[in-house]
Amino acid sequence: MSPEPLPLAKPVIGAEEEELVLEVLRSGQLSLGPMGRRFEEVFAAWLGVDDAVSMSSGTTALHLGVRALGWGPGDEVVLSPFTFVASANCLLYEGVKPVFADIDPVTLNLEPATAEAAISADTAGLLPIDIFGYPSDMAGFERIAAERGLGLLEDSAQALGAIDGEGRKAGSRGNLAVFAFYANKQMTTGEGGMIIPRDAAEAERLRSERNQGRAVDMDWLDHDRLGFNYRLSDVAAAIGVAQVAKLDRILADRAAAAALYAEHLGGIEGIELPAPDTGQTRRSWFVYPVRLPEGSDRDGIIGKLAGSGIPAKAYLPAIHLFPQFEQFGYGQGDFPVAEGVAARSMALPFYGDLSEADASRVANALEEALKG
Ligand SMILES: Cc1ncc(COP(=O)(O)O)c(C=O)c1O
Repeated sequence: MSPEPLPLAKPVIGAEEEELVLEVLRSGQLSLGPMGRRFEEVFAAWLGVDDAVSMSSGTTALHLGVRALGWGPGDEVVLSPFTFVASANCLLYEGVKPVFADIDPVTLNLEPATAEAAISADTAGLLPIDIFGYPSDMAGFERIAAERGLGLLEDSAQALGAIDGEGRKAGSRGNLAVFAFYANKQMTTGEGGMIIPRDAAEAERLRSERNQGRAVDMDWLDHDRLGFNYRLSDVAAAIGVAQVAKLDRILADRAAAAALYAEHLGGIEGIELPAPDTGQTRRSWFVYPVRLPEGSDRDGIIGKLAGSGIPAKAYLPAIHLFPQFEQFGYGQGDFPVAEGVAARSMALPFYGDLSEADASRVANALEEALKG
């Protein structure tokens, strides 16, 4: 009998989430009620910031971040092409040109010096992304942004709980920063996102824009600016409140799962594991990506793993090759590091209660699949 298939990802949902969701359902206030505010408060307290504004997704949070920075037609924003597509789509929503620059082969993030080299007279901002939960060198980005008068939007969607080289939590440095809570993230609300405003006026504007442009003190059908429906429901917020309460444990469990993988996969020849933490830097474990040896048949390996009940996924693509960015003239060969990593990178099953037996099973199956 073949063993049970492993999940690719698994949310940590328990009685606390169920109770708080029931509380909302029984209250009759399923949106714009007190649970939404409570979620923002506990999240901001956990992160160590003054305020946090919930959104319907990480993507909508990014969109309002772009608007808050005033980026628009004629502007360029510099970012990595090795990311989830929403990091750049949010620029297209506002007519901003994404200017991609290649990644560091170790951290897989865009480094400040490379971003600086891509700055032109039209550059309005920088959009660092903490890919695979590895925190960007935000001190470096902040210095460039200050020197050049640029806006900064930190996409920490994959990095809740990461600690940067200065010992600070990703998204807590006073820049506009965004988190995402899709079900495979460290914490989830099913769908959802959060944006960290720079000050109270910005928080007010974000709350208005997510709610059809209505000011907090306005009547139902009064609107004083262009807005959207980017609200998070109170049902989702209830899940978020319960998740924040257990977030430290979730993060610790994921780090322990990653350590198990490092132990079991470390001996497989040719496999590159995620970059280790250095100094004060601590990755927040979102996925467990490995890089296969040059020239491997990744699809074939994924197929073989699937045959052993082990889901694995090619992850991530280099997004500058997607059709919506063709208009800017991007093509194959523009960013060799990102393209090379994208061709060899693969995410393995990953969740906090990954057991020693799971890690060993994945490692054995991968070793077997690599033999061809
Ligand atoms: C780096 C990055 N940015 C943005 C997003 C968008 O978040 P959402 O899926 O909640 O819209 C994601 C989601 O995976 C992401 O990984």
